[in-house]
Amino acid sequence: MVDIMALDAVTSTGAADPVAASNGHHGYPKQLEITENELWLLSYYRESELAGALLMGRLARETDDDDLRVRLTEHCAEEARHAWAWTEAILKVGGTPRRVSETYQSRYHAAVGNPSNLLEVLALTQIFERRVVRHFKAHLSWPGTHPEVARTLQQLIDEEVGHIRWVKDRLDAYGAVHGESVVKEMLDRFQRIDEQVYGELRQYATCFEQVAGPRRIAIDSIEHRLRRVAADSLGRQPSEIRLDASLVEMGVDSLDLVVFMMAVEDEFEVEFTREDQKLMRTLGDVALKLGYVQDR
Ligand SMILES: [Fe+2]
Ligand SMILES: [Fe+2]
Repeated sequence: MVDIMALDAVTSTGAADPVAASNGHHGYPKQLEITENELWLLSYYRESELAGALLMGRLARETDDDDLRVRLTEHCAEEARHAWAWTEAILKVGGTPRRVSETYQSRYHAAVGNPSNLLEVLALTQIFERRVVRHFKAHLSWPGTHPEVARTLQQLIDEEVGHIRWVKDRLDAYGAVHGESVVKEMLDRFQRIDEQVYGELRQYATCFEQVAGPRRIAIDSIEHRLRRVAADSLGRQPSEIRLDASLVEMGVDSLDLVVFMMAVEDEFEVEFTREDQKLMRTLGDVALKLGYVQDR
């Protein structure tokens, strides 16, 4: 079993010490209520949110685009708030944030350097934010996740979706001017880097192995997989999912739709254009489109 703390020297002895784990902050539990490994993982999330805030802030200062300056500043503020949300979650489970010397972004940076133009910034952000949502969802499904950690994960999943949406809108606008294939190529490039980076992290912890295990082999029918994805991402029972009902009838609002489409794209490894999405009004339409895409 590989210890996630191998990445950083957390304590001088390396042993989980309940006294050392107590945070001493007034009003918070004195005993650590999660494992040392999970504390490290939450500290890693916290550090990555901070790195995201700093990156967005730097880009906001550098951009010549007035609209982008507003978006990036808002994004910077939200990532900073997320770093605080993890800090609070750590305190509430009786811990103190660990000093973590690297982040997901630092691994990205090592692989690609700083994004040098608008398309790179947007594509990197899009792929990265999707990874965060997918990873947080996986973490949420781990058995025995502390309720405070689960609450924070859910809150951040909901908020990260807003990030994915604004970046997707900007990517679509970029594609309309410069061509969809240019955008797709850049997304594919960052997708490959993301898979490499996430793959590297798997070696560090059994808890990462749980979330980064091999993709499910596609032996189910498209319909069955689609029902499962819809039930998971919309928070319904599979029996409640009807292929002939319109997404609007099922009460899917625009935010749910972004999450749902993203989950479908991940499951089937496809990318829908905005035009495709407009034409898909029912799950049956989505299934038809997927049948078409997969047979090509
Ligand atoms: Fe975030
Ligand atoms: Fe984000």
